[in-house]
Amino acid sequence: MKSQNEIVDKVKKNLIWKSIFRRDYRNTVRDRAQAVFGNVFLHLHPVQVRESAVKLRFTWGMGGITFFAFIILVITGVVLMFYYHPSIDQAYTDIKDLEFQVPFGVILRNLHRWGAHFMVIVVMIHMFRVFMTGSYKAPRQFNWGIGVILLVMTFLLSFTGYLTPWDQLGFWAITVGTNMGAATPLLGYQGPFSEYLHITPYNDVRFALLGGAQVGGNALLRSYIWHCVAIPLFATILMFVHFWRVRKDGGISKPQK
Ligand code: HEM
Repeated sequence: MKSQNEIVDKVKKNLIWKSIFRRDYRNTVRDRAQAVFGNVFLHLHPVQVRESAVKLRFTWGMGGITFFAFIILVITGVVLMFYYHPSIDQAYTDIKDLEFQVPFGVILRNLHRWGAHFMVIVVMIHMFRVFMTGSYKAPRQFNWGIGVILLVMTFLLSFTGYLTPWDQLGFWAITVGTNMGAATPLLGYQGPFSEYLHITPYNDVRFALLGGAQVGGNALLRSYIWHCVAIPLFATILMFVHFWRVRKDGGISKPQK
């Protein structure tokens, strides 16, 4: 009988293992650093973190918690997509089916809905913390800017998700929201300069958002695609830029002595 260590050694000498884990994780600082650099997942975390900078009373952990909420939303959102059709005939009944027919459907729906409310709250607390600790100052101005776009993305995700159940709440929220779009300067038919630019209800930004002049099937489809594909993709890319920037700006800012 081979001992456990012998088996582990044999696996580690295997070519497939070696092609994935390029470095042995021996217990020297250099080896550990090399193992981290050579692995894309480990590489997401810095090799060294200043103890003072990860004090919970300094960061409140809110950026990490926002990211955690986003992951929960992506997972529950993908599962919800198996039960939902973005059409005005089916959307509302699909949601009712989720609540009353699908096993654990009500939990799934509520995880997604409450998760969304939670993300909106924690992202604002994160922004407040960054402001209060003065972490928006040089060299972190650019990351503050990325953060502002992430904040807008979070709100847009919430807003576009609102229409998907095709209930009264969502219908009127989108009606009011897109009507506000109609009043946008230079873009909306009710906004300033619209007559000079020949902007009408049929070629303005509201029309583009709704895919028509009224909230209907096209608006539902558009909002669904923004909600499930375009905005999450853009937000994910920006989040990785955000995390990368935290590293490049010298790690999380540290409390003043
Ligand atoms: C989806 C939204 C966001 C996610 C997932 C996110 C995530 C994170 C994480 C994980 C950190 C590391 C430190 C920490 O946890 O506090 C961080 C730092 C930072 N975030 Fe965000 N963030 C988001 C939105 C924002 C917003 C709205 C702002 C501001 C407008 C912002 C500005 C910053 C800045 C400046 C830092 C560096 C802070 C420091 O060095 O102390 N972020 N973010």
